[in-house]
Amino acid sequence: MAVKDFYRNGCARWRVFFQPQWQVLFFISCYIPFAVSQIRYSIPEEMSKGSLIGNVAQDLGLDLKRLRMGRARIVTGESTRYAELRTDKGILVVSERIDREQLCGDITPCSFSFEIILENPMELHQVTVEITDVNDNSPVFENNKISFEISESAALGSGFALERAYDSDVELNSLQNYILSRNDYFVLKQNSNPDGSKYVEMVLDKALDREKHPHLSLKLIAVDGGSPQRSGSVNIDVTVLDANDNAPVFNQTVYRASVMENSEKGTPLITVNATDADSGTNGQLLYSFSDIKEQFKDIFNIDGNTGQITVIGDVDFEKDKRFEIRVKAKDQGGLTSTSKLIIDVTDINDNAPAINVMSLSSPISEDSPPSTTIAIIHVKDADSGRNGQVMCSIDKNFPFSIKSSLSNYYNLITDAFLDRETQSEYNITVIATDSGSPALSSSTTLRLKVSDINDNAPVFDRNSYSTHILENNKPGLSIYSVTARDLDWNQNSILSYFLEDTQIGGEPISSYVSINSENGIIHAVRSFDYEQIKQLSFIPNDG
Ligand SMILES: *[C@@H]1O[C@H](CO)[C@@H](O)[C@H](O)[C@H]1NC(C)=O
Repeated sequence: MAVKDFYRNGCARWRVFFQPQWQVLFFISCYIPFAVSQIRYSIPEEMSKGSLIGNVAQDLGLDLKRLRMGRARIVTGESTRYAELRTDKGILVVSERIDREQLCGDITPCSFSFEIILENPMELHQVTVEITDVNDNSPVFENNKISFEISESAALGSGFALERAYDSDVELNSLQNYILSRNDYFVLKQNSNPDGSKYVEMVLDKALDREKHPHLSLKLIAVDGGSPQRSGSVNIDVTVLDANDNAPVFNQTVYRASVMENSEKGTPLITVNATDADSGTNGQLLYSFSDIKEQFKDIFNIDGNTGQITVIGDVDFEKDKRFEIRVKAKDQGGLTSTSKLIIDVTDINDNAPAINVMSLSSPISEDSPPSTTIAIIHVKDADSGRNGQVMCSIDKNFPFSIKSSLSNYYNLITDAFLDRETQSEYNITVIATDSGSPALSSSTTLRLKVSDINDNAPVFDRNSYSTHILENNKPGLSIYSVTARDLDWNQNSILSYFLEDTQIGGEPISSYVSINSENGIIHAVRSFDYEQIKQLSFIPNDG
């Protein structure tokens, strides 16, 4: 067998196998003249109809006349006639689209054969046409999407098997390589199965972070080795599943609120807020107070779901001016964080001044000089600031005044001399008022008695008394009764009556009348004689 090589179009390589042993057999009686040769052509698949396969006339060394006279034709057992013999030009052309993949699948080399027969004399030539692959198929993936759900806590080095691609072309035109689109987390690893087949997986190279990238979109690209190169791709969707890797974070390190004392129960104060980057229950927060003093628990409440802090008990500025509480947020995965909450209490004027009488001098003598101290008073107000500033006052019509000596101490003093006979007792109301708005006040009443001094002389109820007496009376007869009064009190007002020592007709008055020193009743001492004495004048004395 001789091999003759030549080139066509400067690029495709044509190989013609030439069978030179011409065996000429004649059809005389039992002899049949017979010549056999074999030619082999090679063409790429997918040539258009009418494309040249080869010049058989030339390659077999036959002229066109012989072809025509010998009624040259193709005989073939194969169902599809891919080639057509053009006897007018002595060439073989493509008569039908040739798909190498359809014809041979992945069997290589791929070819089909047929015979050309001529008569007179009979010749039989076998023609084999090899179909070479052209890169007319791209690698394809069965699905257009691969989905993964991967926990953000997946270990580095974890592998995730990827779907393989198929390319119907053969050899270099078939699948050669995989490429994973650029990304921060995965690298591609190609492995061989024991049977030699390849599989590909993506391997976690850097820890996932759902909070940064909850979804990743990658692309797996399969490329063949043809020229031009063809490729196919499949999208890879990675959903990163949450792991509880984030603690809650409060949006403030310190929260400040203020509350009016005596605020109504249910009064909202402030809402604390924390966020958790995790999702689902890992990000679901529950608020609470953390290490709160036992007594504060009854005053404030925190709503576990909303973080709102409300008043639930009595806020008393006088007891607590400031509360410092730690608030806590906890996710369902158990991670916690805390923040500080400062609640300042605003004073309201809810305390009236308290008055304490330290000392009281009662009774006080009516001859006490002005500015005598009667009482020392201490005032106290539990409120602060202006709410706790106290002023004391008393009734201006009284002869007293109240003056502050020390802070919160007051002296109640007399303004003038007192007169027990005018007013023997004072109910002095001391009013203490604070400077709050509205102001609160309280009062106390001091009962001050004025003690007597003997500063009033007795006074007869009349300037003069006169009466008549019948002569010849019995000695000892009560003639008259005089009465004097004394404004002073008690001992100072007990009176004794005397007669003023006078002479009547050379005799002392006491020889005519006497006076009962206790009750002022005047008695006759002797029997009077009208002819001797017609009138008697004397002066009683209230001693
Ligand atoms: C002072 O108060 C007392 C007790 O309330 C009362 O008995 C007294 O009469 C009052 N005195 C004066 C002078 O109002």
